[in-house]
Amino acid sequence: EASEKESMYLVSEFAQKFFNSTLLNSNEGQAIGYSYFKERGFTNETIKKFGLGYSPEAWDAFTKEALGQGYKLDYLEKVGLTILREDGRHLDRFKGRVMFPIQSMSGRVLGFGGRILANDKKAAKYLNSPESEIYHKSKVLYGIFHAKQSIAKLDNCFLCEGYTDVIQMHQSGIENVVSSSGTALTPDQIRLINRLTKNITVLFDGDAAGLRASVRGIDLILEEGMNVKVCTFPDGEDPDSFAKKTPHDQLLRYLDENAMDFIQFKASLLMKEAKNDPIKKAELIRDMVTSISKIPDRIKREIYVQECSRIMDISEEVVFNTLAQLIQKDI
Ligand code: CTP
Ligand code: MN
Ligand code: MN
Ligand code: MN
Ligand code: MN
Repeated sequence: EASEKESMYLVSEFAQKFFNSTLLNSNEGQAIGYSYFKERGFTNETIKKFGLGYSPEAWDAFTKEALGQGYKLDYLEKVGLTILREDGRHLDRFKGRVMFPIQSMSGRVLGFGGRILANDKKAAKYLNSPESEIYHKSKVLYGIFHAKQSIAKLDNCFLCEGYTDVIQMHQSGIENVVSSSGTALTPDQIRLINRLTKNITVLFDGDAAGLRASVRGIDLILEEGMNVKVCTFPDGEDPDSFAKKTPHDQLLRYLDENAMDFIQFKASLLMKEAKNDPIKKAELIRDMVTSISKIPDRIKREIYVQECSRIMDISEEVVFNTLAQLIQKDI
């Protein structure tokens, strides 16, 4: 008999096939889910590659089908596909949503993200599978299965925020891309990438939240001993919307020309506020040096001290002393 974990994988894989076939073969799936993906510009090939799906509106369509096929209610609940209500009825968690299966590095289905179709404010835009024995959000990166070869080959990984960012980038011919999808970036997620490359380019949304997340992400990536660049997008754009309207060659050029080393990114972001205000400038230097202090390698730290001194037009000695103070505090 299959182990508990194996049973949870099997029921998740069944669900992925069910949602995908509902999307492609049922009237409801075609009219609602398939046409939604088409509007977003996803091709049939993309839908197939990422195993996208649709979960019917009926409150227990999936659960009924799974039980009918002999899958156990216990496992359906454990992976969160079925919710037991207080009145004893069973409910499909993802009813009426388009489905993004989340795969492990080796391609197994671990969980799902489900998006509502209408942008009404009543329901959360995305619902995700709960933590389970097989799905640990903080240790998973969306898209890693389809990206791993390209990441290793190109020795760089683009890191985005969302499901559709990953998918649209793939469709534009850029495959070394993953997303943290619904969690703040974690050290475990960064270590997954570290197995494939030492270089990450952060591609977060062009809004205030995206910038804040980029700043947080930088220090985490540096702490893992990796190199980090940031490429920002125009206000209101994310990699999905930008890639959708930008031809492949132009997209590649944009990413190449706008990827800034983390220190330049911080400088450009914060310099706007600091201008000629000496106190703000001092804060900015301390902020940059804080990031430098996360770098485990001494030689690299040294190089960034020089870089910071050059960009901020301040002596290396001052930068170095600030760094020494910070590192002291850490110990
Ligand atoms: N997310 C989530 N729950 C939400 C909102 C967002 O889990 N209520 C996660 C999803 O993985 C989403 C990512 O955070 O893909 C980024 O959020 P956002 O930028 O708001 O969504 P997009 O990916 O741009 O989604 P879309 O283009 O479909 O609106
Ligand atoms: Mn576990
Ligand atoms: Mn966003
Ligand atoms: Mn977005
Ligand atoms: Mn988006």
